[in-house]
Parts: sequence; C-alpha cells; structure tokens
Amino acid sequence: MHCVRNVCDDLYWIGGNDHRLALFENIHPIPRGVSYNSYLLMDEKTVLFDTVDWDVCRQFLENMEYVLNGRTLDYMIINHMEPDHGASIEEVLLRYPDVKIISTEKSFLLMHQFGFDVDGRMIEVKEGDTMNFGKHTIAFVEAPMVHWPEAMVSFDTTNGVLFSADAFGSFGALDGKLFNDEVNFDRDWLDDARRYYTNIVGKYGPHVQHLLKKAATLDIKMICPLHGPVWRTDLGYILDKYHKWSTYEPEEQGVMIAYASMYGNTESAAQVLAAKLVEKGVHNVVVHDVSNTHVSQLIADTFKYSHIVLASVTYNLGIYPVMHDYLLHAKALNVQKRIVGLIENGSWAPKSGSLMKAFLDDEMKQMSVLNSEVSMVSALRDTNENEMDGLVEGILDSLKKNN
Ligand code: FEO
Repeated sequence: MHCVRNVCDDLYWIGGNDHRLALFENIHPIPRGVSYNSYLLMDEKTVLFDTVDWDVCRQFLENMEYVLNGRTLDYMIINHMEPDHGASIEEVLLRYPDVKIISTEKSFLLMHQFGFDVDGRMIEVKEGDTMNFGKHTIAFVEAPMVHWPEAMVSFDTTNGVLFSADAFGSFGALDGKLFNDEVNFDRDWLDDARRYYTNIVGKYGPHVQHLLKKAATLDIKMICPLHGPVWRTDLGYILDKYHKWSTYEPEEQGVMIAYASMYGNTESAAQVLAAKLVEKGVHNVVVHDVSNTHVSQLIADTFKYSHIVLASVTYNLGIYPVMHDYLLHAKALNVQKRIVGLIENGSWAPKSGSLMKAFLDDEMKQMSVLNSEVSMVSALRDTNENEMDGLVEGILDSLKKNN
C-alpha cells in the first residue's frame, strides 16, 4: 500500500524509510534508521525530484503510481546521483519510458558510469537555468561537493520550495512525521543531523558556505532535503547550525574528553579531569572511550564542542591505534579551530603526547594545543596532580577567553 505525505499544494513526499540498514554508506551506524526522500510535483507536467535507495524502491514505486493516479511521469530531476538516491532511476525509466531526465553534465556522466541507459532522454541544465512545468517554475543551482561534484539544488520560484539534495539532511527514519514542526528536532534529531552532516559533508565546509551564500539570495519558504524532516518553520535554526558546522566554529563552549585506555589507567585520568572540570563549574563535559564509541560519534562531538582533550596510552611506541584512527578521520573531515589538551600514558616510554601534538600541529589546521600537558607512567599518581590541575586551569582560562 502507498505511504505518502502531502508537502504543500501540488507537491507530495513519496520516499521511503529504512530501519533494516545497519550502516549508512556501510560505515556509519544508524540505530534510528534513515529516510530516502523523493518528491513528486503534480503540475501540468508531472515532475519527480530524485529517486531512492534500492532498499525502499518498491514502496517508492507504489507511492509514485498512487500519486500519479493514472497520469504518466513527464520529468525526473536528479539533484544528486549518489546511489542512495539514484539507484532507482533505471526502474523509473523502465516503468515510464517517455520520461525526460533533467540534471547536470557531471550527473549524466555518473549515470553512464553506473551503466544507466539514459541516452536520448537527457536534458542538461546548468547554474541559473529555469524550466516551467505549468504553474511552477524551477530554477537550478549548482552545488558541487555538497556532497558529490555533480550535485545541484532546485528551487521552485512559484512557492519558495528548495529541493536541497543532501544539504539539511539527517540520519533517522521519519516514521510518519515529515515536517520539522511535527518532531522535537532539538531534542530528538539534532544529534543525528550533526552526525550526518559532519561525517558525510563535513569535509566540504567551504562548498557548503558557497551554497549558503547562494541560498541567502532566494526567498526560501520550505526546505526539502533528501534525508530527514522537511523544514517549513524555523529555517533560521538549521541555517545557523549549517553556518557553524561549515565554518568549523564550535556549537558550544564545552569539553569532549576522548580517551584510549588498555587497562583502565588512562580512563581513570580522563575521569579525574572530568570531575575536576565539573567541580570548577564546567558542566558541559562529555567523556568518550574511543575504543567503544563509533568514530562518527567522536567526529560529531568534535564539531560540537570548543575544547577537546585527547588522553592516550602509548602503543608500540606510537599513538594507540583507535585514537590514531579517530585523528585520521578528523583530519580527513577537515576538523579545525579547536583547543586541545593532551594526556599521555605509557609504562616504559610514554610518547603518545608528543606524537598527538605533532599530528595536530603538522596534519591539521588551526588546532591550538594547550601548554599544560599531563604525562603519566602506567597510572596517575599524586605526583601528577600539579600537571592535572595545570591542564584544568589551561582549559578554564581558554573557556573564559572564548566567552
Ligand atoms: Fe544521501 Fe550524498 O547521498
């Protein structure tokens, strides 16, 4: 049976939700599932905005057939060709052989690479082009690297609906609730929206900034992303989050302590630091064990908090591998502008502190490492208390400066 929501006059959500997929992109856990949003405009011509992942294709086709109600599909606008949205294009072509595909040159190149038979049905558009479908006129805006090079967004100049591709998306299945005002976004969705943005699009902050500047020139009334809720109220809320994330500015003044511990001694040091910070009035503190916290969560909190403390045991004279892996992810995702404190441990040759500092200084951008470092041998002892208090004071001082 169909599962459809009306978005606004003439426009329908015809996508699908998936709770069965464990890992998005086969990397990122999605315990709340994910939605693949597709939209159908019923104008003088019928226009589909993107398809869905193969996993929900059957539901999507049933939805489309229901909304078309006997009409054929005239056009298919492809804003993003990554397979979580483009996988069902061929199935649409089989069922609606006269449909024309509207997309960018690079997108058609990708369709050929994926082996789709689209010749003779392509309408190539570029920045600033428009097409009229009856009552609605759609303008096309290129959005390269948000999140693939071929991406564009489409803007309905008639009613102010922006089809934003991956931008403004989120992990999480919709479960019936389509609009941002039908959920408690700040309480129930923001963490997944942040984890989605930072891990999927985080590397491309300057490109997102470029798109945001173009979006600021449009009279946007509604944002229809390819994942997660549709925004029809409080657009400033999500735009503000995107501005912070894409400029790598922290969302909150606070401290993420990420520790790598083999036998619990480095973990104890992390807990001592957390307790001392909270006792001094810094309540916005989170502590993560890098060995059992998925790196996508570590990355999301790295974007969220202003201060990061890395506490790592030394392993084979190097950084503990899981901590090193987190740092490599942070570098790959262009994390920058954070204040970092260091705690090192090692039973015969503690080196992780100097190695982590070298990584932050040499491999990443604008990471300020606090002078006060804790260096422990095997376990934190009373002799380390001055160092630990120095680290606490260093964090407090820089928090005060940022306020
Ligand atoms: Fe949701 Fe870049 O694909």
